[in-house]
Amino acid sequence: MAKDWNPSSWRSKPIEQVPDYPDPAMLAETEKKLASFPPLVFAGEARKLTRALGEVAEGRGFVLQGGDCAESFAEHGADNIRDFFRAFLQMAVVLTFAAAQPVVKIGRIAGQFAKPRSSGTETRGGVTLPAYRGDIVNGIEFDEASRIPNPERQLEAYRQSAATLNLLRAFAQGGYANLDNVHQWMLGFVSGSPEAERYSALADRISETMNFMRAIGIDAETHPSLRETDFFTSHEALLLGYEEAMTRVDSTSGDWYATSGHMIWIGDRTRQEANAHLEYCRGIKNPVGLKCGPSMDADGLLRLIDILNPENKAGRLTLITRFGHDKVEAHLPRLIRAVEREGRKVVWSCDPMHGNTITLNHYKTRPFDRILSEVKSFFDVHRAEGTHAGGIHVEMTGKDVTECTGGAREVTADDLSDRYHTHCDPRLNANQALELAFLVAELVKKDHAATPQARAANG
Ligand code: PEP
Ligand code: CO
Repeated sequence: MAKDWNPSSWRSKPIEQVPDYPDPAMLAETEKKLASFPPLVFAGEARKLTRALGEVAEGRGFVLQGGDCAESFAEHGADNIRDFFRAFLQMAVVLTFAAAQPVVKIGRIAGQFAKPRSSGTETRGGVTLPAYRGDIVNGIEFDEASRIPNPERQLEAYRQSAATLNLLRAFAQGGYANLDNVHQWMLGFVSGSPEAERYSALADRISETMNFMRAIGIDAETHPSLRETDFFTSHEALLLGYEEAMTRVDSTSGDWYATSGHMIWIGDRTRQEANAHLEYCRGIKNPVGLKCGPSMDADGLLRLIDILNPENKAGRLTLITRFGHDKVEAHLPRLIRAVEREGRKVVWSCDPMHGNTITLNHYKTRPFDRILSEVKSFFDVHRAEGTHAGGIHVEMTGKDVTECTGGAREVTADDLSDRYHTHCDPRLNANQALELAFLVAELVKKDHAATPQARAANG
């Protein structure tokens, strides 16, 4: 167990991004209640994810992590969850089949509620109110009552996470993810687009392969891996009172686990070495992500790695880089070289969203070509350094939103106002997400073809 650590030891450290709750007694009462609720995920599942990520850290496989920037109470519903899940499955199947690599599937879902903000307040028309910090903290409406942090929202976030997770487990294990359904995962509005044609062609090849396998006696009835998939959940561990309440001892190992989600990550604004978020995350055994923006220096990164993964266990730590499309070459090589020099085992994943946010027509948006460009540079740098480009981390939805500009079915600056629904950052719509998956599949395939194992297999 981590030395001098307990689930509340973060409370004595400096902390960033904390909501100002006006009623501390009510907050304590809520946290006590949460601590008595059942865990959302189990230690054994988190260990399974660590093993899967461990394979990726060793160069085998790819991580797909994605979902909303911020889940919302208002948009909670079966349709949204199903549309997200099938858009995500489409991406995963493209990556698995086209790149012939196992894909670790992790949603930003069932707990992704709390948001860090660049300013603690927001001013509109001369009125200044506390900033919106995600539905788990306060309301997005710009009025005083909504913006006051309310602890009871944590109970609602727990309830929504449990309901979402329940449906996701049913989709993943109950037949929906059966590869025989590969054609049915196509979303209505996606059909007719260039990605839809590419996806259809790929789905035909998968069906053909399934028919062949069935003919030789391998089918979904006898082989669960054809009808089920492992799907994991993740979120930013920002609201530490909530995380502490959901932290439990695993009775089989005696270790502490965050049971609010399978994987949690530390945001780019809360990764200070001596601070509370590092303190909390070092003590739990789940796989952990660390966002790395342009201000991360190599020595600082190595110190954070030592705090988070002192045993250098492959799969424990995923470094999620988010520099901006034109900054990858300036920052990624120095971080990779430091990690390689010190022999640290990490998964490298690319978040091409958070360094590429601009404002157009008063909307926060992200040009799709910059997103693609950051991903391409990420792969180029890893190829040049001889390291494994291990995953992508994206903000996406299964809905036909107009939040990021560009894509094959182009969203223009003037289209942004049509269906701009996000509660925080702009997300890829299902078309854009699928288009990205095809590009990434090509890049992964190219890398895979260049590995010593693949070269040996091909003579
Ligand atoms: C996020 O992932 O929504 C986020 C806030 O990212 P970052 O910490 O990298 O800015
Ligand atoms: Co975001």
